[in-house]
Amino acid sequence: MKFLVGNWKSNGNIKEKKRLLGSLNHLKPKTKVILCLPFTLLNDTKTKIALGAQDISLYPNGAFTGDISGTMLKDLGVKYVIVGHSERRRYHHETNAIVKNKANIALQNGIIPIVCIGESEIEHKQGKTRSVIKRMLLESVPEVGKFIVAYEPRWAIGTGVTPTAKEIESIHKIIFETLKTIHCEKMPVLYGGSVNAGNTTDFIDIPHVDGFMVGRASLKSETFVPIIKNMN
Ligand code: PGA
Repeated sequence: MKFLVGNWKSNGNIKEKKRLLGSLNHLKPKTKVILCLPFTLLNDTKTKIALGAQDISLYPNGAFTGDISGTMLKDLGVKYVIVGHSERRRYHHETNAIVKNKANIALQNGIIPIVCIGESEIEHKQGKTRSVIKRMLLESVPEVGKFIVAYEPRWAIGTGVTPTAKEIESIHKIIFETLKTIHCEKMPVLYGGSVNAGNTTDFIDIPHVDGFMVGRASLKSETFVPIIKNMN
């Protein structure tokens, strides 16, 4: 099965959520569509489309002002959570160790973590992508339990620039082989970074690409629905 994760980041409101979910209602996607919304829009998870969160607290319920715990997400019926998105790593200084910890907390609450990894532009230019990716992967994924990996080169996020299909193929092969060394090769691996309806047709058949994580193009049905249709 292929996966399509929409990541709304810090965008959207109740009206926009209703509008997008309404436009997805009549679709019968073969793809597993997961919409990761801001916490404020996760109040009603009884939708046909699976809803996910974009972060989870390192801490249990208690004196942690502003944090949203795994227990709270579980209580809402959230089934997926993004951990270690490059924006969290960058603006909130999340390390691989923190990401792994969050992934474990998600699993303890019956939530599947979507673990993000991706090299920076400098690392890419210096030819360090392979070593960076392997290390990030091995240090960020949980030891036991199900998870999804999203490979998102930082230089491709929100820029309109993507790696070539060949480059994506070679990195996804490395990810697959690295997962194999820890007996996790069955875990789905998604590509993310400037995904749109145009490039999904080029990327969907790449070996070891099990779907996509989509930011900007997931905000509106005009750009999200064509991706779902391309994946069917
Ligand atoms: P983008 O974002 O599709 O807008 O490039 C992807 C992401 O950050 O998950």
